[in-house]
Amino acid sequence: MADTPVNTPVVTIPAQEASSLRASDPCVFVILGASGDLTKRLLLPALYNLAQQKRLPENFAILGYALADYDEEGFRQKLAGALHEFSCDGGRPELVEWIRQRSYFINSDFENPEGLATLKSRLAEIDKKYGAGGNALFYLATIPRFFLELPQRLAALGLLRQDNGCWRRLIIEKPFGRDRATARELNLGLAKILGEDQIYRIDHYLGKETVQNILAFRFANGIFEPIWNRRYIDNVQITVAEAVGVELRAAYYERFGALRDMVPNHVFQLVELTAMEPPISFEANAVRNEQMKILEALQWIEPENISECIVRGQYTRANDGSAVGYREEPGVKPDSNTETYVALELHLDNWRWAGVPFYVRTGKRLTRRDTEITIRFRRAPMQLFRETDISRLSPNALTLQIQPAEGVQLTFDAKVPGPEMQLGHVAMHFAYADYFGDVCRTGYETLLYDCMLGDATLFRRADMVETAWNAVEPAVEYFDAHPGEGLVTYPAFSAGPKEADHMLNRAGRNWHAIG
Ligand SMILES: NC(=O)c1ccc[n+]([C@@H]2O[C@H](COP(=O)([O-])OP(=O)(O)OC[C@H]3O[C@@H](n4cnc5c(N)ncnc54)[C@H](OP(=O)(O)O)[C@@H]3O)[C@@H](O)[C@H]2O)c1
Repeated sequence: MADTPVNTPVVTIPAQEASSLRASDPCVFVILGASGDLTKRLLLPALYNLAQQKRLPENFAILGYALADYDEEGFRQKLAGALHEFSCDGGRPELVEWIRQRSYFINSDFENPEGLATLKSRLAEIDKKYGAGGNALFYLATIPRFFLELPQRLAALGLLRQDNGCWRRLIIEKPFGRDRATARELNLGLAKILGEDQIYRIDHYLGKETVQNILAFRFANGIFEPIWNRRYIDNVQITVAEAVGVELRAAYYERFGALRDMVPNHVFQLVELTAMEPPISFEANAVRNEQMKILEALQWIEPENISECIVRGQYTRANDGSAVGYREEPGVKPDSNTETYVALELHLDNWRWAGVPFYVRTGKRLTRRDTEITIRFRRAPMQLFRETDISRLSPNALTLQIQPAEGVQLTFDAKVPGPEMQLGHVAMHFAYADYFGDVCRTGYETLLYDCMLGDATLFRRADMVETAWNAVEPAVEYFDAHPGEGLVTYPAFSAGPKEADHMLNRAGRNWHAIG
């Protein structure tokens, strides 16, 4: 635990973000899929948190659209219920009421022209009533089948046109395609009806706070920059571990698996933030251009290297019987070859990182939920400790802990008190919550708020989505053609397959422990 920082004043440095304390632009927030899980668990609580922080203006309204067969009053009741259940404080009555009374609903099919015509007329009425100035944000909170078709229908009705200085934006959730070809198809389709600056591809995994924490840690602290390169760093390890299994997402997961579902998006985002050069500013394209260079520098994993550079695993029943195996999960084929775990050795072809492996792993039903970046430094020359068993000396490691709690840990060796020269492995730990308090958030607040202000820094650009597929595409194609090849197993609630350990052991390394 970090010491309580009693005498440590926290200096707040005004960044460009200071201006973001204002309320967002007036707008109508259109939720396409307003009866779904994403809406109730994340979008509505995030809007609630924004309202609490006074980041939503009075000229704000919500217009929901879904198949669900309830009317407007029914939607408002569901909305209030979701806020009571999923907001951190159980939903303060006056805030719930503020949101409730400015929420509207259309129950219809996305494929029903009459329903969409109603959407157009209701949007115009609500816009006028609240003085939203024609601004509208369309959130595709629905199944991927509609990711292109629905925007096309909206465009045909003129709903995506930005007339008279108003803005019209579309937020789209991942998956942004299932491979490079389908990602490109989606991008090209959207580009025909929307400008790139109207498309917000959300990757909610890293909230803005986390991204800025990583950038601030790297670029606001002079002591790390000189050692943040191949001369001092031996390897980088990125872990995105989940304790949950496939839950109710089998239909989707069976088609995607861990490699497609997590690597070209969430995992690469962490690689980019760890490896990128300092941007010239925090302006959206300045940051994204640097991220893009990392995606371009990622070496493609070719089929002949797959057995050395990739481990795919699938969870089996937990040793204590507390969880079923993946193949026993509802909706999963009993002979499924979908991987629920993947570990990769990646390399970046650039000056800073040449020769430094980036070991990344992600999986379900691992020991615990844990997202972290660990930088392992090269060993010290050791001349002073010839008598010490060198294998017991651990390399220095810096860990940026991201989930479930954010913090930074530096591990190093120190002398154990006593007459003998013995070294012990010790850690310095900083937890954001100890210094700055625990803030309750869903991870969507700043993303929604940024979108309403037109700040695209945290959203994936079309070229980033397509380039991210490059590094893994040959492997993805290979596994599509050889589905069971090399698939190994690991018991639920373990640290993953032993083959992933062997991948590092072969190079004289080992994984940082999960959690
Ligand atoms: N759930 C999460 O935690 C989560 C997290 C991150 C990302 N996402 C992404 O968010 C998106 C939505 O996920 P979800 O979990 O909310 O899905 P979901 O629970 O299945 O909700 C889908 C929504 O779309 C509506 N819908 C489906 N077909 C329709 C049609 N033909 N006409 C009108 N409405 C239709 C559904 O209405 P009815 O229910 O009334 O039929 C429902 O409101 C997905 O892309 C997912 O990958 C979800």
